[in-house]
Amino acid sequence: MCGIFGIVTNQNIKIGKIALESIKRLEYRGYDSCGIVSQHNNSLFVKKDAGKIDEINEYLKLDEFPNGSKLALAHTRWATHGPPTKINSHPHLDCTDKIAVIHNGILENFLELKEELLSKGHIFKSETDTEIIPHLIEEYLKQNKNLKEAIVSAIKRCEGAYGLAICHADYPNTIIACRKESPLIIGIDKGKTSYCASDIPAFLPYTKYCYILEDDELAILNAGSVEFFDIDNSDLPKQKKVQEINWNIDAAEKGGYQHFMLKEIYEEPSALRRTMKISPDSIKDFAIPLLTADHIYITAAGTSFHASLAGKFIITKFLGKYIEAIECSEFKTQLNNSLEENSIIIALSQSGETIDLIEPIRWAKKYKPSIKILSITNIVGSSITRYSDKVLVTQAGPEIGVAATKTFVTQILTLALVALEIAKLKNKDSQEEIQKYYEALQSVPDIIENFLEKNADLIKYIVSDLEKNLNFFFLARGASIATAKEGGLKLKEVACRFIEGYSAAHAKHGPISLVRDGYPIIFIAPPDETYERLLGNVMEFKARGGKIISLVIESDEKITNLSDITIRIPQPRDKYHNLFSSITFIPALQLLAYFAALEHNLDPDKPLNLAKTVTVH
Ligand code: F6R
Repeated sequence: MCGIFGIVTNQNIKIGKIALESIKRLEYRGYDSCGIVSQHNNSLFVKKDAGKIDEINEYLKLDEFPNGSKLALAHTRWATHGPPTKINSHPHLDCTDKIAVIHNGILENFLELKEELLSKGHIFKSETDTEIIPHLIEEYLKQNKNLKEAIVSAIKRCEGAYGLAICHADYPNTIIACRKESPLIIGIDKGKTSYCASDIPAFLPYTKYCYILEDDELAILNAGSVEFFDIDNSDLPKQKKVQEINWNIDAAEKGGYQHFMLKEIYEEPSALRRTMKISPDSIKDFAIPLLTADHIYITAAGTSFHASLAGKFIITKFLGKYIEAIECSEFKTQLNNSLEENSIIIALSQSGETIDLIEPIRWAKKYKPSIKILSITNIVGSSITRYSDKVLVTQAGPEIGVAATKTFVTQILTLALVALEIAKLKNKDSQEEIQKYYEALQSVPDIIENFLEKNADLIKYIVSDLEKNLNFFFLARGASIATAKEGGLKLKEVACRFIEGYSAAHAKHGPISLVRDGYPIIFIAPPDETYERLLGNVMEFKARGGKIISLVIESDEKITNLSDITIRIPQPRDKYHNLFSSITFIPALQLLAYFAALEHNLDPDKPLNLAKTVTVH
């Protein structure tokens, strides 16, 4: 989704260069156009166009600002209202060319506001919803309001979601930022420079101190200082606590890897080791309400939904209760008449900002206030945490690649830790047995590390072989169906291949008709309780000429003997490790998608049309 960056300083620094580098660090969010406005001598200077930042920079020189300019706003746009064109790119200005606005979000009532403004003689240049904001502010400034008052009046008229950064040609040292449902963080280098951005990496090289702007708050940024207000009480400044960011920019840079996606796959062992250390007390707090809930739902989008499918298997094993997994965008439709008191919703989101998830959670809380929301996110202070009764934060570190990889495995691990806590609390399995599951879980990072060390070339070879075929699919049973689905999603996202992950048993009811001589099928085959039946499915596909590629553990024999190629996961053969196969088997499929993207000359970090944080419906 759109990326916002703003800087105001009293230092002699190259703000053009900083603004450009900062929006490049927001590229991962997904975008199709970009723009920059600088302010100098009571004028605004705008450069913008559709396309990639580097390409636009070649001819527009985005980083070259008038000498002495101390304030800039920069934006990456992910088109919603109006196609990606120069005119629709942000910033948008009012009729006087004095007010510039950059926006992330969607204004729902923009058509009626636009009509009102048109009738007052305003001239619009773009098809965007955003452009109504500078015109509305212009209108309120005409009523003798100052800039803050005019902005407050304007945004009170706006329905929908927004993260906004606004500047005015005649207010040389001021950026005004405000938000509702779209993230906005304020960075402060005290006494020198202030920043605002949709995400921390944008300003992380320059300061580690930040404030997280909440819904319906407004911030006035001056060079090196900031004041906060509630939109509904905008006369009185309010206090907010400064936070120190405890990761540095290296974590958000490629560190010698060709792509973030590859780096983040290789970071999975360390991300898992950190997540393993989530405080036992908070895991316990999260687990206890699940013991007495009458209904439990787990909900999320995309990769996080697949982590939910895998995690619910692990929790159900010890909890002994049915957990219903529902894609978040369908949650309200499905439960509109049946959500009951004493229910719990477990919500998973890497970003904590996915609007398709935030909406049903807000709805559920309003509809049945007694319902508890337990959420798992990778981002401290993200929107989802505000609607949650309990929060666990995965310790994956910043994930910049658009395709979720390390956050997927840390989400499942976090659910597995909750599952083992439930086992302890229920006291049904012996402590010795539970300890064995813990030990297996603790060995997961080593298994992945070992696998990644030895298998990249094999996966590259399989990719080059698979590329001879137009189609193939991933098949699995039980918990591994989540792995298969996630493998399919990764290939769609980064390699633009419509490859499906499917139930091996169900494949007999349709997809098997695709199989011809040499048609590849990748079976996900940990030796769990579904193994013998999966073996039967492998035979069915082999009998029809299918080329069998299987993901098995190192000591596997039966499915290996039926396979043309095996990918071998260095995992012991026992039920303890099997329970966590959705974590140990997925890196192979993530690597497969990564190399498939390279084979197609695609940049796996910047899939077409995709955004890392999806804040529109
Ligand atoms: C897949 C991917 C998306 C996200 C989905 C949910 O690689 O990145 O499918 O998983 O948009 O995002 P979060 O987890 O941030 O709610």
